[in-house]
Amino acid sequence: MHEKIIILDFGSQTTQLIGRRVRELNVYCEIVPYNKMPKDDPSVIGVILSGSPFSVYDDKAFSIDLSELRGRYPILGICYGAQFISYTLGGKVEPAGSREYGRAHLTHVDGGNPLFADIDEGTQVWMSHGDTITAIPEGFKVIASTDKVAIAAYQAGEEKMWGVQFHPEVFHSEQGTQLLRNFVVGICGAKQDWSAASFIETTVAALKKQLGDDKVVLGLSGGVDSSVAAVLLNRAIGSNLTCIFVDHGMLRKNEFHNVLHDYECLGLNVIGVDASQKFFSELSGVTEPERKRKIIGKGFIDVFDEEAHKIKDVKWLAQGTIYPDCIESLSITGTVIKSHHNVGGLPEKMNLRLCEPLRLLFKDEVRRVGRELGMPEHLIGRHPFPGPGLAVRILGDITPEKVEILQNADDIFIQGLRDWGLYDKVWQAGVILLPVQSVGVMGDERTYERAVALRAVTSTDAMTADWAHLPYEFLAKVSNDIINKVKGVNRVCYDISSKPPATIEWE
Ligand code: XMP
Repeated sequence: MHEKIIILDFGSQTTQLIGRRVRELNVYCEIVPYNKMPKDDPSVIGVILSGSPFSVYDDKAFSIDLSELRGRYPILGICYGAQFISYTLGGKVEPAGSREYGRAHLTHVDGGNPLFADIDEGTQVWMSHGDTITAIPEGFKVIASTDKVAIAAYQAGEEKMWGVQFHPEVFHSEQGTQLLRNFVVGICGAKQDWSAASFIETTVAALKKQLGDDKVVLGLSGGVDSSVAAVLLNRAIGSNLTCIFVDHGMLRKNEFHNVLHDYECLGLNVIGVDASQKFFSELSGVTEPERKRKIIGKGFIDVFDEEAHKIKDVKWLAQGTIYPDCIESLSITGTVIKSHHNVGGLPEKMNLRLCEPLRLLFKDEVRRVGRELGMPEHLIGRHPFPGPGLAVRILGDITPEKVEILQNADDIFIQGLRDWGLYDKVWQAGVILLPVQSVGVMGDERTYERAVALRAVTSTDAMTADWAHLPYEFLAKVSNDIINKVKGVNRVCYDISSKPPATIEWE
């Protein structure tokens, strides 16, 4: 069993980032809700308390019994975590005169403290807090300040417990990773042996043990997660794994055939099902985005279920669920903006046991595992694509003609990104078919045709995203090509909204 750091989640937006940073140090960690600290787990070597949207003195503030952790594990409190420790043990936390957001610089850094090894005086850190620790408990010592706050970091005397008011996990904290390394490696003694190769070795062994000679089905989507899950399972149980790839008719141009071919080359035992007619007829006339998602989700389950029943003695359903999906579903303050869980009802309906070999990995780790498994780069480096596919990129009702228009425009855009070396620079890109027509002129003819919007974003986790600043020359070329080659489109726009407040997809 791998040694691990536990991150207790008090609901901050950046909790996942703490996890990513720790994993980037090749140290395994798990994020659990603040009140779900694993009991008597000998593999735990340290605990991090995250930030929170609450103030320590709010009625609703999340609270834990610190005595269950103190003396057992080294502890690091970040933002709310730091305030909580200090407040609970007799310090003072007060609303800051002015809320402090953004960059600050550390002063009076105690370089001799193990938390600050190799961290420079004046280093930039990122603050995001409405409250400030104005007094620390007796015996605690201040180990860094900023211009605005006297207590930017502290240690609880000689005890292995620290608190930092700033966010070392965010990119703008220049030496944040060093600070986390000091805690995780220097103080907790992590061995840094968590890697894609070690993950594959332990997971393949665990899957062999878990599944034995049982038969397993897995739904492939063409995306990275389900593909990597399939190859990993294939390595563990070979032909006892059957993969089912359903074409709901809303995939990218030629995608069904291309991806099916890739899967066959990977040696997967895969069944391709063309169910597009069923989906087109069920979606006919439907305009409401959530309704489209529900229809596709349910239709997918029906098709999958029918196919899976043709295979004898299946015991398990495997899914490419990854860590952010799990964290999202156990999020303690989360609000559902869009229902992303396309196949949520599948396990219940099929009465199969669930196998999710990637459920503890972040997206970039899934990619590393895929590479280590020898999967081709064009499968690994693929942009994310929504489960309901082009259905959520056609605003309004869906028809096969509209899908074809969108597929053609999308193909020009995506191929263009590849040709110009831009594909890997953006997180995700696609075209949206708008429910408007506008007047144009082609040759001497008046046209009255559709408008499409190009969308390309940069991101690291899809939680936040910025519009990609693509070169004008590229946009000009794509716009020209689309209008000239895609019949039915006479106007191209570029979406320059960031997330938040917009989302990546339009529906
Ligand atoms: P939004 O639009 O919420 O998208 O900013 C964030 C990421 O999730 C993808 N997405 C989906 N994925 N089923 C999925 O599997 C869905 O219904 C769905 N909706 C959005 C989106 O493409 C982006 O990567």
